[in-house]
Amino acid sequence: MFDHLLSSVRIGSLDLKNRIVVAPMGVEIAEGDGRVREPVLAYYAERARGGAGLIITENTSVGYPKGANSAHELGVSDDSFLPGLRALAEAVHAEGGRIAIQLAHHGKVARLDSQQGRDLIMPSVPEAHFRPTGPLDLTLDEMRAMGRAAGPGHPTIRSATPEDLEEIVGAFASAAQRAQSAGFDGVELHAAHGYIFSEFLSPAWNRRTDMYGGALENRARLLCDTLVACREAVGNDFPLWCRVDAQEFRQPGGIVFEEALKTARLAEKAGADAIHVSAYAPPLGAGFTEGPIVHTPGGYVDYAAQMKAQLSIPVIAVGRISPELGDSLIRDGRADLIAMGRPMLADPELPAKLKRRERGSIRPCVYCYTCVAQPFFDRRVRCAVNPLTANENELSDRLKKRSRERKNVVIVGGGPAGLEAARVACLRGHKVTLFEQQSQLGGTLRLAALVYRPNEELLDWFLETLSQSDVDIRLGQTMQVSDVVNCAADVVIIASGSGREPSTIKGSEKSHVFDGDSLRALLSGGVDSSERRELKLFPRALVAVGRFLGLLRTPAQVRWLSRWYMPMGQKVAIVGGGLVGIELAEFLAERGRRVTVIEKSKVAASEMAHPRRWRALHDVRELGVTLVMEATVEEITDTQVLYERILDNGQKERVWLEADTVIQTLGSIPNSELPDLVRTAGVEPICIGDCTGVGYIEGAIHDGFHAALSIGED
Ligand SMILES: Cc1cc2nc3c(=O)[nH]c(=O)nc-3n(C[C@H](O)[C@H](O)[C@H](O)COP(=O)(O)O)c2cc1C
Repeated sequence: MFDHLLSSVRIGSLDLKNRIVVAPMGVEIAEGDGRVREPVLAYYAERARGGAGLIITENTSVGYPKGANSAHELGVSDDSFLPGLRALAEAVHAEGGRIAIQLAHHGKVARLDSQQGRDLIMPSVPEAHFRPTGPLDLTLDEMRAMGRAAGPGHPTIRSATPEDLEEIVGAFASAAQRAQSAGFDGVELHAAHGYIFSEFLSPAWNRRTDMYGGALENRARLLCDTLVACREAVGNDFPLWCRVDAQEFRQPGGIVFEEALKTARLAEKAGADAIHVSAYAPPLGAGFTEGPIVHTPGGYVDYAAQMKAQLSIPVIAVGRISPELGDSLIRDGRADLIAMGRPMLADPELPAKLKRRERGSIRPCVYCYTCVAQPFFDRRVRCAVNPLTANENELSDRLKKRSRERKNVVIVGGGPAGLEAARVACLRGHKVTLFEQQSQLGGTLRLAALVYRPNEELLDWFLETLSQSDVDIRLGQTMQVSDVVNCAADVVIIASGSGREPSTIKGSEKSHVFDGDSLRALLSGGVDSSERRELKLFPRALVAVGRFLGLLRTPAQVRWLSRWYMPMGQKVAIVGGGLVGIELAEFLAERGRRVTVIEKSKVAASEMAHPRRWRALHDVRELGVTLVMEATVEEITDTQVLYERILDNGQKERVWLEADTVIQTLGSIPNSELPDLVRTAGVEPICIGDCTGVGYIEGAIHDGFHAALSIGED
């Protein structure tokens, strides 16, 4: 019922209708001058309409452009920002929401300072810059884009002088007052994530010997002085709090929880009305998915609970918290409010849907990190599953408006592109018929759901959403030209996925060699219909029994069952280390298989957003998967795979690898037969998703969305 999560709560003098908070997220929608304009208003208004008790804005620069991370960040550094900020507070209030501003100075990661040739300010000049120890796992394009965002040349880092610190405290205090006069409902000081306050708090970054360094009381002085100055500026009745790191992971000598707890107590004493509990790790590599963009569900809830036990002010918990977990945390007195970040990009209507008891209709975040990859490149946030996010201004009204003309839309293919196209076309009032040749919907999303759990929630959401819609779904039917005629189709959208490039590797026809599709069919019991290879009798019987008993109906069931039994050998070679290859490697290694991935390029899983790649590659390496890069497979025998790879010295070596199962995740090719067929019925089809080239879930959903949105618009 989510009664606890939906119950009212108070921070200082601020009454909130429920305990769901939109976490601060730097969405970088501002146009490059830190000002609030229509797109920013539309983004926040959409989240206010979604029913959250409180929205905390993205980090907003108190000294903009000084100390800002990006030109696209919001600013609050002088009164010229007031009209925009006022409009923002009003837009949220008009939707019945409450909004607090997050105030920040980015310290060592103030990229706008380095772009514009100013010194970076830190507590002390670090002895050595952070250097990743393992492989960077970034493509050349990504490294170039990050380099461009960081600005030309090497930034100069300077130890903050007393004048700098005075300026910073003053900038926060006047920003807080400005926010108050603009109509905001509260102020959050960003004292986490390696920005200025967090650097002062961290013994790893703060090596000062003056009153701001050494003992924790000294390291917390800048934060506490700022809280006091802000309190003086806004008065006692205005809610003011801070966000802190409970832990600094992977940073020798960094913040530890015991100290974070003391910092929270000091902040409470200095006048904070609440504590928001996040965490941090060096931002390049898998650590980024430990803090602040945590991958482990509920990764920080124990920290929040311990803080709550020790403090008398409300505690805001964050970090991959589902509504169910959030509700139980409130019920058990382990947190007072629940902040959600990525889920609010995926579906800003989450709180309203919980209230309407429509849990199943909440579009889930698939934790693919597409959103948070963008700011690394100084680009506007994107959500893989919600194309509206950060485009509300251009797209919201178009989506809501029913089409002037009701068209007959035929969609071929029930993968993510076809499902999204069907959803949107139906929403806009068209008559939609969807043909799927398999007996279940999902297409490539089913394999994706099998090997990466969050994708299953997306699949379930599509199934639930379409089951509530008027889309006419024809399962197990291959669309024929006659169907185009019988449906009187005005529009045909082909989303039938890609064809498979025939493998040229010698031995790839052998019975222990699978491709992604046949593996999915094998695991999910679709063997008889679509698996072309002969399985040995015993495994085939087992799969048939599993299917008969209904044990292979959902990806979750297959995942569970496959922990006990999988019809494949122990030594698995995966040919192709793209997204599919790496997710499969993790799935198989978790099930005790010895897995080697052989990949042509230098960077594995390059289609994943790089933070997700960092996490996935970290996890497969931890599981003992061997990644062989810059290698080409030449031959597959009954027991071995022969590959050639380029060594560091440029020489080539040929290696025979033991393998009793081989999975090829190689090449997809556009599917051109179907479009030609549709043309014979006199309709020019719209081709989307993998049938135009492989775009994975994000590409598929965005394609489907835009194709359906454009129907009947001209
Ligand atoms: C795109 C994006 C931008 C973020 N920007 C900020 C920010 O400006 N300030 C901040 O304190 N945290 C920021 N975060 C971290 C979130 O507030 C939140 O702590 C984190 O995403 C974990 O919560 P979640 O699992 O609900 O997404 C950002 C997260 C994302 C995904």
